[in-house]
Amino acid sequence: MASGQLSREEALACSECRHACHVMLYSDTKTQLFGRIPIRHIILMQMRFDGLLGFPGGLVNPAEETLEAGLSRELLEEVGVALPVSVEDHVATCFAPASSPSSSSSRLILHFYVKKIEEEQIREVERAAASTATDHGLEVLGMVRVPLYTMKGGGGLGLFMSHTFIGNARSQLVDALLRFNLIAPKDLHKALTHSLK
Ligand code: APR
Ligand code: MG
Ligand code: MG
Repeated sequence: MASGQLSREEALACSECRHACHVMLYSDTKTQLFGRIPIRHIILMQMRFDGLLGFPGGLVNPAEETLEAGLSRELLEEVGVALPVSVEDHVATCFAPASSPSSSSSRLILHFYVKKIEEEQIREVERAAASTATDHGLEVLGMVRVPLYTMKGGGGLGLFMSHTFIGNARSQLVDALLRFNLIAPKDLHKALTHSLK
């Protein structure tokens, strides 16, 4: 287990901690930008009410629901689709960074999941998130796709990475890109180098 990570058991043993679960939904795609730049994967993030980019999900109370049931409930509210998320989709659990905005003094534990779905399901999520989702226009201003390519001149992933993210969403994204082979490490490195300029 990577340093700073908690096991599910350790996390749930903390009775005074609060818990939040978020998920990265993604699919493969054969579509090409401008008919020539492969998109490769569609990865969904969201523009939140606070102007920060993050993953769909939210606060879960393990005393009332399982982590995964709570995450599915948040998904229904935020993207309008009842997508089951299971223990097998879990990838990491850690304490929230100290800089996370919080109205409570109890520690916040972040559980992160990654779920691969079909491209058509991604489109269904995008349609529902922009229409029937109860949080649309409220907690969630809109879904956004992550550009995985780097264009001549540097546009693409590097510039996307230079936006501001909630909590540890940026590092969750970077870790997931590598863990699930969604980008070659050298291409990620190139994009991240660009984002620092
Ligand atoms: N994506 C989104 N939020 C994250 C992430 C991430 N990758 N990582 C950490 N967080 C943290 C944020 O600090 C956030 O405040 O988890 C916390 C809870 O997540 P939300 O998605 O904001 O929670 P949700 O239950 O959807 O919203 C309920 O939370 O932010 C408050 O007051 C806000 O009414 C809202 C309430
Ligand atoms: Mg929510
Ligand atoms: Mg949320």
